[in-house]
Amino acid sequence: MELITKAPKGTVDLVPGASEKWQLVEGVFKNEAELNGFSEIRTPVFEHTELFLRGVGDTTDVVEKQMYTFEDKGGRSITLRPEGTAGAVRAMLENGLYNNGYPVKLYYLTSCYRYEKPQAGRLRELHQFGVEMFGAAEPVADAQVIALALSAFRRLGLNDVGLQLNSIGCPECRKEYHRALKEYFSARKDQLCETCLSRLERNPMRILDCKSPVCQELAKGAPKITEYLCEDCRNHFARVQECLSDLGIAFEIDPGLVRGLDYYTRTVFEFPSKSLGFALGGGGRYDGLVEEMGGKPTPGLGFGLGLDRILMALEAQNTEFPPQNRCEVYFASMGEKAQRLAFRLADKLHGCGVPADCDLCARGLKAQMKYANKIGARYTMVLGENELEAGKAELKNMETGEKRKLSLGESFVDEYIAACTAQEDLSF
Ligand code: HAM
Repeated sequence: MELITKAPKGTVDLVPGASEKWQLVEGVFKNEAELNGFSEIRTPVFEHTELFLRGVGDTTDVVEKQMYTFEDKGGRSITLRPEGTAGAVRAMLENGLYNNGYPVKLYYLTSCYRYEKPQAGRLRELHQFGVEMFGAAEPVADAQVIALALSAFRRLGLNDVGLQLNSIGCPECRKEYHRALKEYFSARKDQLCETCLSRLERNPMRILDCKSPVCQELAKGAPKITEYLCEDCRNHFARVQECLSDLGIAFEIDPGLVRGLDYYTRTVFEFPSKSLGFALGGGGRYDGLVEEMGGKPTPGLGFGLGLDRILMALEAQNTEFPPQNRCEVYFASMGEKAQRLAFRLADKLHGCGVPADCDLCARGLKAQMKYANKIGARYTMVLGENELEAGKAELKNMETGEKRKLSLGESFVDEYIAACTAQEDLSF
């Protein structure tokens, strides 16, 4: 029975009360992205497995250990997206979005799937707000995406979010770095975990991102990429920092920050929450990814922010959310005729954008008024035989108790608006 009464491990339901908070947070990110010229993209929840093997990298934890992969009935290998970047690149290429000129700027609000051990801030179905930008190589583009995220954090009142920054160079300067890493870790081979032993030959930088405490300890003494950057990469990184400083954005350079996905080049960054102790999001440049996936060489960059973690951070600092979906007018009714009139009047108010509701359960008047209170209705109107006969009924302000008689005919909406404006003048 548990299988049908409990959601799968690592997933959560978003129920009324919580979903309004999510909408508000998502609205801030959406608005901030649109202010910066990004447009929304929606891609399928599942893609060909090959996309992630190529895009995210087959030596990453995400691909090696965490993907939800299955064979569909047609025998294809399909994977639920573990992140948003690879799908956005595929969609950008497939739909020729580059034909409208560069930069192409996309944002998404999406669910992702990773088979991880569920714990605080770690889910199997997680939600991300992300942006991806294609065709902009300039350091000011890196600064723009970083500033966008920080501005949204600020608007949400999240003020303990830091910015950690690093550059992991280009394939050219990384050749020398990989040699240095191999030398360092080969001398400590006997201490590496099994996964890292296989990474030593295939992709030694991944060892720096290993979760095993022993590998993490070893990584602390490993050579730092920043000492191996070529001149172009060094200049690019210096200019990113200048652009951030131009906006007064504080950052901390972390030479150990390499990120967990293979596509990154040059700038990488994370937004740690100081109070929660984990990253609310991260991203960086991926100047080789579009070409890797069959497109022309095109610079790219972006970030993914964990919405589940952002909501956790807001809860942790007791953020007050404004009440949402408040009912303006509740029509209580007695008898079928009055119920139908209530239904029509509520519909008229919806037509002018006023949240209104009426009795749908044929409850007694007392129970209806109790319900109106529960949903926080600002006004109520009782409709019964007398009101139907008179063609008039009283609109009651539930806060002040003040009442206004309104006609229930053609002029109802106009009279309602006039009464509310007058009541607001009087009572607030
Ligand atoms: P990521 O660092 O793997 O990057 O994920 C971004 C954010 O998603 C994390 O910082 C975290 O807040 C959230 N997140 C990741 N895994 C989980 C989980 N299991 N449970 C809850 N939250 C989680 C990416 O996904 C890249 N696609 C970001 C990017 C876009 N880079 C360039 N463009």
